[in-house]
Amino acid sequence: MSEKKTLSDKGLFCATVRANKQIGLRFYRLGLEFTGDGAKAFANFRPGQFAEFDLSGTALPPKERIPEDLVDVCQRNILLRRPFAFVDVNADKNKTFAEVLYRVVGPASLRMTTLAAGNSVSIIGPLGNGFRVPEGKKRALLICGGMGAPPLQHLAKVFTADYPDIEVVVFAGAKTANDLPFEGRLDNISQQLGFSLMEFAKYGVKSQVATDDGSAGFEGMVTDCFKQWLDKSNPPRERAIIYACGPEPMLAKVAEIAKEKNMDCQISMERRMACGIGICQSCAVKCRVEGAQETVYKLCCEDGPVFDSKEVVFLR
Ligand SMILES: Cc1cc2nc3c(=O)[nH]c(=O)nc-3n(C[C@H](O)[C@H](O)[C@H](O)COP(=O)(O)OP(=O)(O)OC[C@H]3O[C@@H](n4cnc5c(N)ncnc54)[C@H](O)[C@@H]3O)c2cc1C
Ligand code: FES
Repeated sequence: MSEKKTLSDKGLFCATVRANKQIGLRFYRLGLEFTGDGAKAFANFRPGQFAEFDLSGTALPPKERIPEDLVDVCQRNILLRRPFAFVDVNADKNKTFAEVLYRVVGPASLRMTTLAAGNSVSIIGPLGNGFRVPEGKKRALLICGGMGAPPLQHLAKVFTADYPDIEVVVFAGAKTANDLPFEGRLDNISQQLGFSLMEFAKYGVKSQVATDDGSAGFEGMVTDCFKQWLDKSNPPRERAIIYACGPEPMLAKVAEIAKEKNMDCQISMERRMACGIGICQSCAVKCRVEGAQETVYKLCCEDGPVFDSKEVVFLR
């Protein structure tokens, strides 16, 4: 993710599954191992980049493990690859280990749950641009909405390893406590100290939780929680930067706050991605042209998925 690191060439690689652990009702963590050229390509995978997974040949789980709302849709053939970010990447000599944090939402992610240690998965990547760190920043404010958490968890880790002078604060939101894609929360004392989420606390990063129904942390939208914090702590705006990933209405709100406060802000956009490599044109994002009235369509898979919040024209 650092401007110092060069992007490795993307390619089609085969990864071996090391583990596939259920961590919540619909949440799993899939551990993968890349060797050879795949290990080299993914060693410098930047937070915010993604990879396209082929799950067409992966089996469905037995009937009793298929959620009721997916009984019909899960029978669909999986013609296209699916994009996933990595929540963690570790390069070790000639192997690279990567983890996907995923939510079961449809036929492909449901099939993903049956992958077991030793299975192979065909993966194209690394794809997309990833988050960037401009010079002179001292504070990074990470805002995750629901399944927007994985690339920001990876980002928090890279910040603590490569940018120890930058303080990181995380705001994680979801509809309810059960929709938060995290493994466990810390005790009351840790929460009072601001280290609510273990996944960030392990990097020494403070976090705040918000749920729409108040079942955990702040009651309300994560953007309201963030705005309240921002108004109170008022960090020097030219030294702070916002990074956000989550549903589009949340990103639109974050972009509005960033504009109001005149702060740098990078957002990771989501689109259906049929190819992931700039061919099918299915992932258009409407963008403003700097210094002009015009708009252009950029490709989320190649020009993004990370965009400057000022350039995106949100669909209302
Ligand atoms: C760059 C990028 C990174 C991603 N990283 C992760 C990740 O780390 N973990 C994770 O769980 N998911 C991630 N996703 C979303 C993931 O790609 C989808 O959940 C997956 O494709 C669902 O496939 P499916 O066949 O299970 O469900 P589908 O039947 O394809 O989709 C189920 C439902 O989710 C909606 N949906 C699916 N994909 C998208 C999308 N890209 N944008 C908007 N709505 C969508 C569909 O409209 C539908 O309602 C990422 C998406 C992108 C674009
Ligand atoms: S996903 Fe095909 S062009 Fe972006």
